[in-house]
Amino acid sequence: MNSTAKRFQGKTAIVTGASRGIGRAIAVRLASEGAYVVITYAKAADAKYPGAPEEALRLAREAGGEGEIREADVADTSAMRALIRDVADGRGLDILVNNAGICPMLELFEITEDLWDRVHDINLRAVFFASQEAARIMLEKKTRGRIVCISSISAEIGTPTQIHYCPTKGGVNALVKAMASVLGPHGITINAVMPGDIATDISREWDEANPEEIQRYIERCPVRRRGRPEDIAAVGSSPAALTWWMAESHRSCEAITASLLQNQPVDQVDVCRELRIQIDGRVPDNDGLQQPASGQEALLAMMEDLHIL
Ligand SMILES: NC(=O)c1ccc[n+]([C@@H]2O[C@H](COP(=O)([O-])OP(=O)(O)OC[C@H]3O[C@@H](n4cnc5c(N)ncnc54)[C@H](O)[C@@H]3O)[C@@H](O)[C@H]2O)c1
Repeated sequence: MNSTAKRFQGKTAIVTGASRGIGRAIAVRLASEGAYVVITYAKAADAKYPGAPEEALRLAREAGGEGEIREADVADTSAMRALIRDVADGRGLDILVNNAGICPMLELFEITEDLWDRVHDINLRAVFFASQEAARIMLEKKTRGRIVCISSISAEIGTPTQIHYCPTKGGVNALVKAMASVLGPHGITINAVMPGDIATDISREWDEANPEEIQRYIERCPVRRRGRPEDIAAVGSSPAALTWWMAESHRSCEAITASLLQNQPVDQVDVCRELRIQIDGRVPDNDGLQQPASGQEALLAMMEDLHIL
């Protein structure tokens, strides 16, 4: 571990949907770096995964951190407002990670109004109202807080079985840009992280039923493997996501493209360059980025290179 290992000591982070998948990895990573993590989950979402939140807390503690579990459906705005306010009153609130999300894979004519509304309520509406409440509290308490939203490359690429999901992530990116312009002058940053294909429960049934599609993702992935939640945790808890952006320039409002493992035929160095350009506004040279061993290592190497680790 380097000297930044405990950079979140004394900070409190709420991570929504942290009982499993990407949220759990982010909570564990933040806890390992000193943050007190509030792991939220929804009972209905975890009905098939008994003990998931307890396991997430156990892993956070095993990583050397502390935290607690709170149950609330992110789509229940008043319950989430109460949860955020209660945490802030008790311990303060430094970081909110809007991670909870759903992605039922559906064909065009299978999408009903109810399903459309549910996906939008959880993935987009809830992200706005949780961010709004966190921002209200951070402004009241004069906290230079950090809000990170887990978006998706689906915001930018058309995925045939995610027609209802793609616009929610596009909406997240748009709200991040707009809110950044309001919050940045107060020292509060809001960013989006856009993962590509990450192996989690979110689409496990579909993945298992479509092994040829998964193989195609792997073949198109620059590092020839599926993404892991920990890859995204490295970005979601990174200085780039948590400390870098200010809203005084255009660039500040841009979402981080953390799609090092995305299922698009991109060149990894190009992705790194894109992230770098967005971080410091300069076009970098590619020294040291040509042959990264893995997506996560490439990202960390890039951040070290930028002296922001
Ligand atoms: N896995 C991927 O390939 C991928 C790619 C891009 C973006 N994402 C995004 O990352 C985020 C996390 O996805 P994941 O793959 O880890 O999912 P997952 O299904 O593995 O975990 C989802 C988590 O969210 C919680 N949750 C679900 N509905 C909730 C609700 N209504 N209220 C509160 N909590 C709720 C669950 O309890 C669980 O902890 C989502 O926003 C998803 O859209 C995932």
